[in-house]
Amino acid sequence: MNYQVVYFSRSGNSKRVAEKIASHLGSSAIRIDDHKWWRGPIGYIRAGFYATIDKKVNITLSEPLKDGYLCVVVSPLWAGDTAPAVRAFFKMFPKEKSHLVVTSIGSAVSNRASYLSVTDVIKRQENEEQIIEQLIQKLNSVES
Ligand SMILES: Cc1cc2nc3c(=O)[nH]c(=O)nc-3n(C[C@H](O)[C@H](O)[C@H](O)COP(=O)(O)O)c2cc1C
Repeated sequence: MNYQVVYFSRSGNSKRVAEKIASHLGSSAIRIDDHKWWRGPIGYIRAGFYATIDKKVNITLSEPLKDGYLCVVVSPLWAGDTAPAVRAFFKMFPKEKSHLVVTSIGSAVSNRASYLSVTDVIKRQENEEQIIEQLIQKLNSVES
């Protein structure tokens, strides 16, 4: 099975995880851009607001998706769920063809329905490499 890695990142954690996964899979990491300014304290508050009221954002991708590929989608956890940009991505690409990876400080994503799998990369658990390794093994075992 062929995979393409897609990510959204505000402060770099999901980008780092996406790039590690992409490197293992020999693919590039496609960035989701929502054209919003999330930086600094004001951006943090805005991000929490957007996440909480499920405010919609318009997104573009850094490169086009390839036909026939499954996606590994990496998102930060924002107020218990994926970031609005990633929710927008799943309006254009099915969850049923996606492995979701969520980075967070301390909690797991609550909405886990419909994805092929859900992986939590939780900073407090200090096991990022191990979790990524397990995911890659799972993806490769599907392939064989
Ligand atoms: C608006 C906002 C809400 C967040 N909510 C949570 C949360 O509910 N639980 C949690 O463990 N971390 C939460 N975080 C922390 C991020 O999920 C975590 O730092 C993540 O790895 C950031 O990814 P990024 O660097 O790719 O943006 C939140 C961060 C932001 C900006």
